[in-house]
Amino acid sequence: MAGWAGFLGALGLSSLYFIRLLFPRVVFEPSPVFKAGFTSDYTVGEVSTKWVKDQRVWIVRDKEGIYVIFARCTHLGCTPRWLKTENKYKCPCHGSGFTKTGINFEGPAPRALERLKISLGPDGQIVVDKSKKFLFEKNEWDKPGAILRV
Ligand code: FES
Repeated sequence: MAGWAGFLGALGLSSLYFIRLLFPRVVFEPSPVFKAGFTSDYTVGEVSTKWVKDQRVWIVRDKEGIYVIFARCTHLGCTPRWLKTENKYKCPCHGSGFTKTGINFEGPAPRALERLKISLGPDGQIVVDKSKKFLFEKNEWDKPGAILRV
């Protein structure tokens, strides 16, 4: 009797294990790509903060074009704030400061803020791809995709 119970128990466990294999654990990450509206939504000389909350980026437009800055401090990863009156990004954690273009100039941050890939989609909207980064220290800010010339 105990032998049968053991056998059926083992059978039941292996069946459960088999069923578990049919449903792999899948992690649904949010897409790193998002549409950010039209170029006309951005004013020359301005830092747009409208995507910081949802996407953690600033979109900056200057005379050269439009670029996307990842709002993550290069010291320990806090989210800096754009201080318009002081014309800089300031990290609340340990005081690092970055120029409007993203260059570190005060505090412990060891390098510039990172830029993210920007392009124009077929519908004319700006497309940001947060999975592709451009680093100042590697001279990547002039590479295709680092800035949208408009
Ligand atoms: S995390 Fe920004 S200064 Fe330390």
